[in-house]
Amino acid sequence: MALTVSKTPTGSEYKVKDISQAVFGRLEIELAEVEMPGLMSCRSEFGPSQPFQGARITGSLHMTVQSAVLIETLTALGAEVRWCSCNIFSTQDHAAAAIARDSAGVKAEEEYEKSGKLPDVNGCENREYRIVFRIIKDRLLVDPTRYRRIKERLVGVSEETTTGVKRLYQMQANGSLLFPAINVNDSVTKKKFDNLYGCRHSLPDGLKRATDVIIAGKIAVVCGYGDVGKGCAAALKRAGARVIVTEIDPICALQALMDGTPVLTLEDVVSEADIFLTTTGNKNIIMVHHMKQMKNNAIVCNIGHFDNEIDMHGLETYPGVKRITVKPQTDRWVFPETNNGIIVLAEGRLINLGCATGHPSFVMSCSFTNQVIAQLELWKERGAGKYEKKVYVLPKHLDEKVAALHLGKLGAKLTKLTPAQAACISVPVEGPYKPPQYRY
Ligand code: NAD
Ligand code: ADE
Repeated sequence: MALTVSKTPTGSEYKVKDISQAVFGRLEIELAEVEMPGLMSCRSEFGPSQPFQGARITGSLHMTVQSAVLIETLTALGAEVRWCSCNIFSTQDHAAAAIARDSAGVKAEEEYEKSGKLPDVNGCENREYRIVFRIIKDRLLVDPTRYRRIKERLVGVSEETTTGVKRLYQMQANGSLLFPAINVNDSVTKKKFDNLYGCRHSLPDGLKRATDVIIAGKIAVVCGYGDVGKGCAAALKRAGARVIVTEIDPICALQALMDGTPVLTLEDVVSEADIFLTTTGNKNIIMVHHMKQMKNNAIVCNIGHFDNEIDMHGLETYPGVKRITVKPQTDRWVFPETNNGIIVLAEGRLINLGCATGHPSFVMSCSFTNQVIAQLELWKERGAGKYEKKVYVLPKHLDEKVAALHLGKLGAKLTKLTPAQAACISVPVEGPYKPPQYRY
């Protein structure tokens, strides 16, 4: 269904499925605000001075209730915000409607990329990229002078996820990074919370909503034992599954073993397991030849950022394969030779946002408070020469501030160091703070 661009009475453009859902969206946003103490305290600390006055911020990130609280925090600090969903299945229409009605321009269209001709995008592996390319190409046809000055105007970018920051570091290394960037993912209060505890919560949510199978007793294979893999494996174990991990990194593999989880290869377990999950941020993890060997109704899903961990192309083009859509985002693919089917969730895209509503508000408050702080820093220092066209991480004291803002909500009381204790444990640090750049 192609959606059209509409305008609010104040002139904001939006493209959402059903603007009448704004009332419901607003109610859920109000519930989320109570669970997002970091963002709400940004509003009370920075709101009065309007630090984003004059800033235009654009976001490409799942358009969820939690993102709505982030958007409204940025606008409460004076920014003009436009938002674009980063995944075709993750948009929560009611949240998008509330934001479109009340706060920012939103393009939350889920289906428009399924129709129309795409440009030739050799080398681009996923549909989200292709959508962006198509929009750019179409706009350039109408106005060839468009987009010329973006690079000059762009103050900087803050990046949310492991896969995204990897791309930024690659661009930095090959000289193609055109702007300063802050790596939000590697704040400890992001990667060690969202990726770990967030996925621990939202993976089983997605599995249950999509399939209704009991997890207890099943054999579940988790490909990758980084932060996301650790969270997912923990959730599956807690639900009673017998978990097996695949890894390429000896340290992560050893960690899995120390957590009591066998480490094998996919080939070892492919015909025995009931649930397969990819969490690697890498590509070509579960291929069609693996899927062919799986048990009838084995569940195959991905929680890594892109839809290239599972070989969807190989599956879709397998001769004689039959796709039976049980419900949106739950498909049974039947192989002609065996008549066995496998159940693929969210078409190989991230299950927790395709089959469920993503991470809960509290954990997203940690991630998004880092985002607000990063955006504030980039905007404050614009033109001052502090940031080059490189990737930066936030300093440790800000990471600690984000954590501190979330303690009260959980009733914690922090012990204070005495001066003697502080002296005892303080270590001189040379150079800028570097949060752990490893995944363990
Ligand atoms: P990470 O780097 O900490 O972990 C990835 C792990 O996969 C590493 O331990 C690596 O050794 C392993 N790996 C790589 N290639 C492999 C292969 N071929 N076989 C087996 N293991 C392999 O990354 P992370 O922070 O855990 O993030 C993983 C992915 O999840 C990224 O794409 C990230 O962007 C995404 N992510 C998703 C969500 C979500 O809500 N769905 C949240 C956070 C992160
Ligand atoms: N990533 C994971 N969960 C999310 C959520 N609820 N909102 C936005 N991005 C997310």
